[in-house]
Amino acid sequence: MKEKISVLLTEEEIKARIKQLGEDISRDYAGKELILIGILKGGVYFLTDLSRAIDDSVDVRLDFMQASSYGDEKCTSGVIRIMKDCDLDIKDKHVMVVEDIIDSGRTLSRLLVVLGDRKPASLRLCTLLDKPARREIEVDVDYVGFEIEDKYVVGLGLDSAQQYRNLSYIGVVEE
Ligand code: IMP
Ligand code: MG
Repeated sequence: MKEKISVLLTEEEIKARIKQLGEDISRDYAGKELILIGILKGGVYFLTDLSRAIDDSVDVRLDFMQASSYGDEKCTSGVIRIMKDCDLDIKDKHVMVVEDIIDSGRTLSRLLVVLGDRKPASLRLCTLLDKPARREIEVDVDYVGFEIEDKYVVGLGLDSAQQYRNLSYIGVVEE
């Protein structure tokens, strides 16, 4: 069955915002090496766009982690599993976690503890979307694309039961 999806953020709005984030990050990390850690699967679309918006004053490296707190349901299970760890040694490196959305904050707070234990030179967080109204655990977010209200969104990596990740806009699935 085809569900109706209403557009929350257009492709143009998202592109413009990612361009600005890339400029901010380029300025903040100029002359440095920066490891971007994309969180699979949802963070992949944002990671590839963001990394290309960072200019060549920054020596950008990519890595990936996969953690899970959601199954095919639209509510948090409260359980975090690290299914794939990153490959690079991040000790003494500047690291930025790149996530699609921060909701309860559970996934990220856990991941940041795991990564922080490896003693990076710095550890920051960049998310495309932030739903502050849903926060259960405080997380310091350094770069935010858009703050959105408490609605379940899809597109640009975000899924509903694995569907809609490839949409180039952010939409809300109509009930
Ligand atoms: P948290 O641990 O509750 O912050 O959950 C973060 C993860 O839940 C995100 O990385 C997404 O994979 C998923 N998630 C949270 N809200 C949404 C949403 O509105 N749409 C799709 N996935 C979501
Ligand atoms: Mg995610």
